[in-house]
Parts: sequence; C-alpha cells; structure tokens
Amino acid sequence: MFIIQQSVFTAVICVLCSVLLIILLKWTRVKKLKLPPGPKGWPFIGNLPVLFQDPGTTNDEYYYTRCARQYGDIYKLKLGSKMMYVLCKFDYIREAFNHSYIQGRPPAVAYQIAFGPEAKGIILASGSEWKVMKQFAVGVFRELGVGKGVFETRIRAETERLMLKLDSIGGSSSICPNLMELFYIAVSNITCGITFGTQFDYDDSRFKAIVNVMQTYSHSIGPSAIFLTSRLLCGLPFGPGKATRGCLSKFKEFLELEIEKHDSKNACSAEKSSSTTFVGAFLGEILNKGADENFNKVNLITCCLELFFAGTETTSITCTSPFCVSLLTQKFEMRLGGKSMLSL
Ligand code: HEM
Ligand SMILES: *[C@@H]1O[C@H](CO)[C@@H](O)[C@H](O)[C@H]1NC(C)=O
Ligand SMILES: *[C@@H]1O[C@H](CO)[C@@H](O)[C@H](O)[C@H]1NC(C)=O
Repeated sequence: MFIIQQSVFTAVICVLCSVLLIILLKWTRVKKLKLPPGPKGWPFIGNLPVLFQDPGTTNDEYYYTRCARQYGDIYKLKLGSKMMYVLCKFDYIREAFNHSYIQGRPPAVAYQIAFGPEAKGIILASGSEWKVMKQFAVGVFRELGVGKGVFETRIRAETERLMLKLDSIGGSSSICPNLMELFYIAVSNITCGITFGTQFDYDDSRFKAIVNVMQTYSHSIGPSAIFLTSRLLCGLPFGPGKATRGCLSKFKEFLELEIEKHDSKNACSAEKSSSTTFVGAFLGEILNKGADENFNKVNLITCCLELFFAGTETTSITCTSPFCVSLLTQKFEMRLGGKSMLSL
C-alpha cells in the first residue's frame, strides 16, 4: 500500500517538474529570441485562414502589405505549427539571404504528388540537386545563345510580330484586345521555342487554355508559394491547394504532349535536336549517361514546367506592368487608331 502511494507521489512530482521545466524553457526561449510582432492567430491553426482568403480583395490591399504597415517591415505569421517571418524591406531580404544557413528551400511536395518522387526542378530545389540542374540549364541556355546577339534578334522579331498583331486588331475590330494574353503568347513563343522547340500562334486555343491555367496557378500558390511546399495544404479537398493540384495535372498533360511531340519530331536526328532545345539536351543526357536521380523523365517535366512558368509569367507581367504600358500607350493608341480600349 505504502509502496504504491510512494510511486504515485513520485510520478506526480515528476509530471509537475516536467511541466515546470517546459514552461521555463519556453519562457526563456521566447525571452531570449525576442520574436518580432505579428497578427494574433487562432489556437493550433494560427494565421492559417489568411491563406484561404483572396489576398487582393480585402480592402483593396494585400494582407501582407497591411500587416507590414501595422507591425513593421519584419513580422511573424504562424501557419499551422510553422512559424514564418515576413521580410518587407529590400535591405532585410538582402541581409537575410546572405546568411549561409537560410540558403535552402523547403521541398516542393506538390511536384512530388503531381509528377512523382523524382520531381525536384530548379527553382524550388536545394543543395547538390539544385547545383547540378542549374549548371545544366545555364550551360544549355548559353549554348542556345540566350543573352547573346542572336537571341536579341529573335526577341526583336517577336516584338515586331506583336506590334503587327496589335495593328491588325486595331484596324479590323472594336473588340478589346487582351493585352496580357498577347504578351503571354509572344513571350512563350520564345521560351517554349528554346525549351521544346514548339512555336505557338496567336489563335492557338490549346495555348490560350494553358495560359489560363498559368494564371490560375500563380493565383492559387499565392505570394509565398506555400501551397507547393506543404503536403497538408496541397492535399486539402478545397481551396487553393485543390486548385494548385488541378493546375499541376493540366500542366503535366500539356508538357508530356510537348515532350512527346519533340521526341517524335527529332527521333531520326537525336544529335541535332540536343543542341537546339532544352528538352533535346536533357533527353540526350539521359540517352548518353542513363537515367539517374536528376536526369529522368519526371524531373524533365518538372524542369520544363519551371522554365515555362518562370520565363512566361514573369516577363509578361513585367512587360504589361503599368510602367511599361504607360510608356507604350502612346504607340499603341496610334496603332489602334484610338478606336479600342486596351485591357490587361
Ligand atoms: C522579368 C522577368 C523575370 C523575373 C522578374 C524573374 C524573377 C526571378 C526570381 C525573383 C527568381 C528567384 C526565385 C527564388 O529563388 O525563389 C528567379 C529564379 C529563376 N528564374 Fe527568373 N525571372 C524572370 C525571367 C526568367 C526567364 C525568362 C527565365 C527562363 C526561361 C527564368 C528562369 C528562372 C530560373 C530557372 C530560376 C531559378 C534559378 C535558381 O534557382 O538558381 N526567369 N527568377
Ligand atoms: C554578406 O556576407 C559577407 C560575409 O559573411 C559580407 O562580407 C558581405 O558584406 C555581406 N553582404 C551583404 C549585402 O550583407
Ligand atoms: C513564333 O515564332 C515563329 C518563328 O520563330 C513565327 O513563325 C511565329 O509566327 C511566331 N508566333 C507568334 C505568335 O508570334
């Protein structure tokens, strides 16, 4: 009887001590780290619901911008069990990314779910996998003349075609030309040209559909691309995670067909193709050295998606940003004969 009582007593003391120790540790850690301020969150889920609201629609201001105004240029957001720190000042970002211990990126689990376990890509890869793929891509792009005079000629020719397209729309109809879509197609004609060797026409319905997917995709992954890095968020049957998965599977379909078309077009001239497109060079690498953890068909799809997305979305948005538009408006207005309104 006494023995049992004693062991119960010891257990209670142990539990009490552990609780005290945990509280003490938490308290000292919080004290020592001096965390930046941030918006109050819910228990357990923290500020997670923020990710499910449309960032542009609340008060016509991005949630992140509003937080920065309220809490300063560095604030914390708790997303589920993960604590995030948002840096809103160029100098802070520059200083932070100069530290060796935050050079990594969270694994792109959404790619792995959509494409397969070997999906790593370049933009979301880290460490040696990133190094190998980046060196390969930079090498191929250099060989294809990116950044050299030949490429400038290509861009100039595309710009001329874009202007001609605007001419024809201005002259023949009063329908608002969707400026963004035209830029996407013009830019993609170049990026897809060096990636798969495919050319697209302004009236290509299949391409217009994938442009649409790209816009949904960039909207659904959000400002932090967090939906690509969380298995839980990406796996949810509703919200941006579901949209992200849907977009990735449509991209996969599109890219697989482009790669297949490239493959069959170049079946008899494998050596020639390897020097004219990214896909050709990648397939050549698999053919020569055998598939490995970096050079395989799943990672080819992933890299193609990233080049397609990174090249098209960014450049089109930059070209159609209000700054560029204001510079070009005069010229467009002249070409459109003052008949149509431009829409973005
Ligand atoms: C105005 C146009 C562009 C802007 C503003 C832009 C912006 C960026 C930014 C901010 C990053 C860093 C992403 C990160 O580390 O999280 C990045 C990376 C990258 N971009 Fe672009 N980009 C543009 C055009 C392009 C084009 C045309 C391509 C190629 C087709 C491209 C391919 C890449 C690749 C492969 C990376 C990953 C590099 C690495 O991980 O080392 N980008 N871009
Ligand atoms: C980055 O870090 C290095 C050394 O760690 C330092 O010399 C350099 O000035 C830093 N650059 C920036 C922009 O903070
Ligand atoms: C894409 O480029 C090719 C030549 O490189 C050209 O014939 C075609 O008209 C271009 N398409 C668009 C939409 O500009």
